[in-house]
Amino acid sequence: MGHGEEHFARIARYYQKRYSALEQEGGGPYRFTALGAWAASMAPQVFHFFQSIPLSRFKLFVDLGSGDGLVACLAGLFTRSVGIEVDERLCRESLRAARCLGMQQRTQFICADYLTQNFRQADCLYVYPDKPFYALEAMLDGWEGTLLAYGPHFPPKTLVPVQRLQSGTERLVLYRSPSLTHAIARTTVTEP
Ligand SMILES: C[S@@+](CC[C@H](N)C(=O)[O-])C[C@H]1O[C@@H](n2cnc3c(N)ncnc32)[C@H](O)[C@@H]1O
Repeated sequence: MGHGEEHFARIARYYQKRYSALEQEGGGPYRFTALGAWAASMAPQVFHFFQSIPLSRFKLFVDLGSGDGLVACLAGLFTRSVGIEVDERLCRESLRAARCLGMQQRTQFICADYLTQNFRQADCLYVYPDKPFYALEAMLDGWEGTLLAYGPHFPPKTLVPVQRLQSGTERLVLYRSPSLTHAIARTTVTEP
């Protein structure tokens, strides 16, 4: 088992234990929040996606609507990561997870509505949408980074898909801003 896999196994074990405890309490890993619904991405598939991208090519990863911090912690194995989540309890649970996993240096959390935050400085954004995310999309016009959207249910209107990843039944699509995609296409055409 490589170094990265060992760290992944620790994070996966931590969250598995947490989800088993939530199951025993009767609810499971789901909750309504002030701005939507929390459910967690699947850790093994997300780790696999991050390895194949590879996520380490990005300088700053931000999970928009980071739930209990699972994805931000996984991303912290590859690059600096930040989770933004509106639900205070989920934020507290994320901070606790990062502390227990020794990831506070790489992974931070902000408790806020992400639509009020300046996340355009990130070069990689992640969203596991529980509803269409058109307001977010409108904020990404001309942004030069890559948006990773987990799950097939809410495709954006204007962002351009540049890569599709699938692992079992889980899917991740990489999107870029349309103006940037045109710029890349033009560059390709004018190459000698
Ligand atoms: C489906 S969960 C995904 C959690 C996490 N990203 C993951 O993949 O495991 C969506 C989360 O986004 C949060 N959320 C939705 N809209 C938000 C907003 N505008 N600002 C901050 N959090 C938001 C919800 O509270 C919920 O916890």
